[in-house]
Amino acid sequence: MKLYPMNEKLVIAVIEGTTRPKRKSIKVAHYIADFGSQLDGVEIVLVDPKDFNFPGDGNDEEGKDPRYSALTARADAFFIVTPEYNHSFPGSLKRLLDSELQNYNHKPVALAGVSSGGWGGVRAIESLVPALRETGLIVLSWDIYFPRVQNLFDDGGQLKAEHQVRYNQDLTKLYAELIWLAKILKAAR
Ligand SMILES: Cc1cc2nc3c(=O)[nH]c(=O)nc-3n(C[C@H](O)[C@H](O)[C@H](O)COP(=O)(O)O)c2cc1C
Repeated sequence: MKLYPMNEKLVIAVIEGTTRPKRKSIKVAHYIADFGSQLDGVEIVLVDPKDFNFPGDGNDEEGKDPRYSALTARADAFFIVTPEYNHSFPGSLKRLLDSELQNYNHKPVALAGVSSGGWGGVRAIESLVPALRETGLIVLSWDIYFPRVQNLFDDGGQLKAEHQVRYNQDLTKLYAELIWLAKILKAAR
């Protein structure tokens, strides 16, 4: 087993799942990224699918974006934010997942579901899990949900005060589990 230096930061990629121009889930992604960046020993990279260019489908060299390849190679863990589109997850997120294989293998992933209705993206997550499993990502056994996302954040994009205690508690637990697994898997890789 290879042990990594304890002063080395864990890199967690927070992935926003959609490019929709009026997307609300980006507020969730920023909240999760900001929260993580305050934790000791963690470097957060916020991944926006708008920032990458994939010429075509698949994971052949000519279909990859080298910046995304470098980013996923560096990441020790992932936190995916997925809105629910037609009871599934967005195509932009699938494109990111399909573009790499080895860079996901034996790394943990936490999931956040987002919807404008009351289910919080639970069906998007249920449909996402089999695809994640095929990439080799290790999916945490519980998630965080943001139903009625249009009511959760203020105009400045901050989580409203009345929601902070609950979400901060849930996120603290989820990050603790993600970091625990990330350390173990990083050492084992
Ligand atoms: C193409 C499309 C399909 C959608 N399908 C669903 C759905 O199946 N279930 C649901 O609860 N919300 C659905 N929604 C609403 C999203 O939950 C809503 O857009 C929410 O704000 C989160 O996504 P956003 O980041 O695009 O804003 C859909 C939205 C779009 C654009």
